[in-house]
Amino acid sequence: MDNFIFQNPVKLIMGKGMIERLSKEIPHESRILITFGGGSVKRNGVYTQVKNALKDYKCVEFWGIEPNPKVETLREAVKLGKENDVNFVLAVGGGSVIDGSKLISAALLTDTDPWNLVLAGKRVRETVPLGTVLTLPATGSEMNNGAVISSKVTEEKFGFYSNFPKFSILDPEVTFTLPTYQVACGLSDTFVHVMEQYLTTTRQSRIMDRWAEGILQTLIEIAPQIKANQKDYNLMADFMLSATMALNGFISMGVSQDWATHMIGHEITALTGLTHGHTLAIILPATLRVLKDQKADKLVQYGERVWGIKKGSIDERIEQAIVNTEEFFRSLGLTTRLSEEKISEDVIEEVKKRFDARHVAYGENENVTGEIAFNILKTAF
Ligand code: NZQ
Ligand code: ZN
Repeated sequence: MDNFIFQNPVKLIMGKGMIERLSKEIPHESRILITFGGGSVKRNGVYTQVKNALKDYKCVEFWGIEPNPKVETLREAVKLGKENDVNFVLAVGGGSVIDGSKLISAALLTDTDPWNLVLAGKRVRETVPLGTVLTLPATGSEMNNGAVISSKVTEEKFGFYSNFPKFSILDPEVTFTLPTYQVACGLSDTFVHVMEQYLTTTRQSRIMDRWAEGILQTLIEIAPQIKANQKDYNLMADFMLSATMALNGFISMGVSQDWATHMIGHEITALTGLTHGHTLAIILPATLRVLKDQKADKLVQYGERVWGIKKGSIDERIEQAIVNTEEFFRSLGLTTRLSEEKISEDVIEEVKKRFDARHVAYGENENVTGEIAFNILKTAF
């Protein structure tokens, strides 16, 4: 196990009706900027719950943070927040609203353009306090300090790091209205977050491995049941908590991490608009195939402990584990090949060009260069 420092200060508030606790969590003198997406919260009652809880507060609302939040939109929110001298930001929505709000919280305290904050690649520690009401289990943004921000103009998508939210409210009932496709993408995103921190090498930490395997097994168990009944409270509660636990640092203590699938996925989203979790369902099986030699021991462990694969040669067991992974994504209703989404070879070339120009090398062994990413995308074709 490698040395590590772990600290996660987010207060997690989970359960039915918990949105009303907003007034207990946000200081009463606050001037709040409430941020929203495109309007799903108006249709499912979340907006009314938030407004009721905050009826005694001074609030200003910003609407329209889109999926894969665009800096062009976020600049407008920063402007509104500055005009109203806000001192608290409340994000109400999925990962995109929360991610966008992390950048807004940082940009409110500086004259630097938000895109330059992203491009600087440095964690911003001076931010307006942020709280969240999560409506979509997937990203873990509610309990981490990361965000992913896009630019419409340059068709780029990059990570951004700042402070953790002060609190996050997770009411599983708000997920009942999610479109089936978003549920599938959320399950896929959660699954791949675990895999990025688990499917590297063996013998680093028994406890991290088993927590990771526990989340994967939970997802495999609940996915078909959620498909049958998305309004089952306990199923959606397990989904929500799995997504949060998958990317809040709890399963990455002292172990190697990969993240190559995500980095390639971000480029695919930036260039084609394909939803984040869906890009991962396409790329992860190909990443495992291309890197199966370096990941062999862990693939065998994963196959045995998560999928119960105990027979066959090492090669057969590895192949079966990868096939099961791809079939899991297909069982969610997602395609798993670029060609099925009509993504052209030009996009593959462009990803390679970008990675080459940035001289990147991702993955636990820092060997996923433009060339390897190209092979992965060809394999995913
Ligand atoms: O905008 P509205 O109208 O609210 O609709 C949204 C949106 O269209 C809808 N939705 C959300 N909750 C709903 C709902 N519809 C009905 N009922 C509800 N309860 O779902 C659509 C997608 O929302 P979005 O927030 O974009 O999805 P998600 O949570 O998957 O976030 C994706 C973004 O997060 C980034 C991704 O790259 C992407 O930009 N990620 C952030 C991470 C992080 N901060 O740590 C890590 C992840 O790997 C990921 O990269
Ligand atoms: Zn993700």
